[in-house]
Amino acid sequence: MNTPLDINLGVIGVGNMGGALLAGVVQAAVVSPSRIQIFDTRSDVLEATRSALGVTISESNRALVASSDVVLLCVKPQVMAAVLGGFADAFGPETALVSVAAGITCAALERQVPPGTPVVRAMPNTPCLVGKGASGWSRGTAVTDRHAAWAEAILGAVGYVCEIPETSMNALTAVSGSGPAYIFHAIEAMIAGGVALGLPSELSSKLALHTVAGAGALAVSADVAPGTLRQRVMSPGGTTEAAIGVLRSRDFQDAIVAAMQRAHDRGEEMAAELSS
Ligand SMILES: NC(=O)c1ccc[n+]([C@@H]2O[C@H](COP(=O)([O-])OP(=O)(O)OC[C@H]3O[C@@H](n4cnc5c(N)ncnc54)[C@H](OP(=O)(O)O)[C@@H]3O)[C@@H](O)[C@H]2O)c1
Repeated sequence: MNTPLDINLGVIGVGNMGGALLAGVVQAAVVSPSRIQIFDTRSDVLEATRSALGVTISESNRALVASSDVVLLCVKPQVMAAVLGGFADAFGPETALVSVAAGITCAALERQVPPGTPVVRAMPNTPCLVGKGASGWSRGTAVTDRHAAWAEAILGAVGYVCEIPETSMNALTAVSGSGPAYIFHAIEAMIAGGVALGLPSELSSKLALHTVAGAGALAVSADVAPGTLRQRVMSPGGTTEAAIGVLRSRDFQDAIVAAMQRAHDRGEEMAAELSS
C-alpha cells in the first residue's frame, strides 16, 4: 500500500474521466479520501460519488480551488475556457491545475490563470475506467519536480503514465487517446467475421473479446516485440499465415498508420479551433 500524497486534491467535473481518475486515486490510496473535494453541476453524481468513495462535496468550484494543492479539471473541452474563467483567479503558485481536456494547450490554460500557476496538460484514455489506461502528460512553465511527481502518481493510479514534450501530444493522442477505438473497431470486425463463419453472435463476441484482452495482456508482459509474438502464431503454411497474407494484401498496416495520421492532424485542427 502506498503512503498517500500529502496534498489536498480537488476534482472539478466527475463525469467519465473525472470519475475514473478519482476512483483510481482513492482505490490506489494515492490521496486519502478525507483530503479530496469534488464539484460538478450534477448533484446526483456528486452524492453518488461521495457515498461510494467517502470524499467531500465542495460548495463551489472557487471554494474547491481555494483549499486544494492540485485541481483536476475534467470538463469537456468546448466548455473549458468558460468554466475555468469563472474561478481562474483563485489559482496561483500554490495550486496546480491538471487539465485532461483534449486539444487545450498549456499556453492557453496559462493565459487564463495567474502567473506562476503550475499547469499540467494530460491525455488519459478510456481504459482508465478499468484501471488499464495509458496516459501522457506535459508540463507548463511553472511545473517543478514536486508537481510532476503528483501528476505521475494521480494519472498512474489508473494505468501506465509517461511525461512527454507537449509537441508530441497529438502523436500520443493518435496512439493511446484514440487507440482504444481502433481496437474496438477490430473487435467488431472479428465478431462479424465469426458470425459470417457460422458462430452464434454471443459466442463470437466472447471469443473475440477474450482474444483481444489476452493478446494485449501477453504483449504487455512479454519480453519480445509484438512482431515476434505474431511470428510465433504463424506456422509456415498454417491458418494464421494465410490470414495475415490477406491483411497485408489489403494494406492493413497502411490503413492503421493513415488513420493515426488523420487523428494527429485533427488534434492540430481542434487545438486551433479551441484557441481561436
Ligand atoms: N472520455 C474520454 O475518453 C476522454 C479521454 C481523454 C480525455 N478526456 C477529457 O476528459 C474531459 C471530460 O470528458 P468526459 O467524457 O469525462 O465528460 P463528462 O462525462 O461529460 O464529464 C464532465 C462533467 O463535468 C460537469 N461539468 C460541466 N460544467 C461544469 C462546471 N462548471 N463545474 C463543474 N462540473 C461541470 C459535467 O456536468 P454536465 O453533464 O451537467 O455538463 C459532467 O458531469 C474532456 O475534456 C475530455 O477531453 C476524455
